[in-house]
Amino acid sequence: MSGVEPSLHIGAGVGWLNDPNGPIWWKDRWHVFFQHNPHEPQHGCIHWAHVSSADLRSWRREPIALRPRPGAPDAAGCWSGCVTSDDGVPAAVYTGVADNDDPGTVCIAHGDDGLTTWTQPETPVATVPPGVTEMRDPFVFHHEGGRWAVVGARLDDGRAAALLFSCDDLRRWEPRGTLATSTDPVAADLPEADIWECPQLARVDGRWVLILSLWRARVLTGVAYLVGDVVAEHVDGLHFAADAGGLVDAGRDYYAPAVLSDSTSDRGLLWGWSWEARSDEAVTESGWAGVLTLPRELRLSGDLLLSSPAPESEALRGPRSVHGARLEPGAALDLPGSTAEVLISVPAGFDGGVQLIDPLGTELLEIHLSGTGALGSLHWSGAVAEIAKAHRSGRPDEIVTVRFLVDRTVVEAFCSHHTSATARTAASEDGTWRLRSRPSGSVTDLPRADAWTLEAR
Ligand code: FRU
Repeated sequence: MSGVEPSLHIGAGVGWLNDPNGPIWWKDRWHVFFQHNPHEPQHGCIHWAHVSSADLRSWRREPIALRPRPGAPDAAGCWSGCVTSDDGVPAAVYTGVADNDDPGTVCIAHGDDGLTTWTQPETPVATVPPGVTEMRDPFVFHHEGGRWAVVGARLDDGRAAALLFSCDDLRRWEPRGTLATSTDPVAADLPEADIWECPQLARVDGRWVLILSLWRARVLTGVAYLVGDVVAEHVDGLHFAADAGGLVDAGRDYYAPAVLSDSTSDRGLLWGWSWEARSDEAVTESGWAGVLTLPRELRLSGDLLLSSPAPESEALRGPRSVHGARLEPGAALDLPGSTAEVLISVPAGFDGGVQLIDPLGTELLEIHLSGTGALGSLHWSGAVAEIAKAHRSGRPDEIVTVRFLVDRTVVEAFCSHHTSATARTAASEDGTWRLRSRPSGSVTDLPRADAWTLEAR
């Protein structure tokens, strides 16, 4: 066998999966679409696949929603976009790619009430404005009574940009310049990008957050955010006035998240794409590639964007099989199964790492915490990423919690004070995951772990 699919994460089943698209709460169900090639586990001939759920825990596969059509503006692919309500009718607003040279267009398909049957258009609603060389991934949002869209782009002067359109009438899109570009103050400090892909805008804790996936010289280099305000500019434009920025996820295998601003509870939910760390041969042999991360809730701690699994995920827990086990530096603790959750309490003053070891024996992730006042960092397979601007207070009662959700070949790591991290193991088989601590010096108090097996119900 060359790869068991994770059991709780949304996957393609057969074929390829990349970006999540258009998460929406519609008629009492959650719906998520994703970029999908049903023919082979490689990117190409991109369709929109569709899953739905009543509870954010178990997902039902729905019929394919959008498919490329010969001779149409989406002949070479139905690339990323969002789903919104067009006067009560579901509308998938997506990127049409007609051929390899197409810089991208905006297309709109209308769906039935169950979101199962879609009518794709003959013509796009928007084509590239002058001065733009690449355009994709429309995202519709509302601001002070108006309907707008941001679209990912590269400008012909080399800047990455979030283009702005006004679209009060979804059939008539008016270009309105840019909402933000990569040379704007604050944005210029983000990791460099040639194209900002999949821009997403959400209200989080009363502020605006702009999420950007960073495409740089054909490499997908990570996901950044800006936090600030959307302000009116000139008579008919908007501008993103950023106060700060950072990374949405510090892991190595995470990209193109899609946000759902959940008006039912005023929360922002986020799904991302986690690609494979297996060899190309193993992927081809297994016939599938890619998973979506579990739904995460966004929150702000000052200017730092944090996320944690949606509380609905706790219902995946089976009986707790590890109770307050001390993480000894020498001896590794086995996780209770290959699909499990671990919650680790790191006591105040503990200086050192909490390591997650994958079935191949690789130290896949290490959350490293300094005792007091300093930054935490995240290490994965030798590399180190700074994950936090948050400082530890050093108060004797301050406990940092680290949470790992492991599902066969994918791990999502969360820390009470830090950015999340997503990583895949290169292992193709199910196997044992282990934990241990690695104190920097002599410590009296070690981190302690609780663990549960996880099961879809
Ligand atoms: C991001 C992305 C999007 C594009 C889609 C194509 O991973 O490149 O910009 O719409 O994937 O599948």
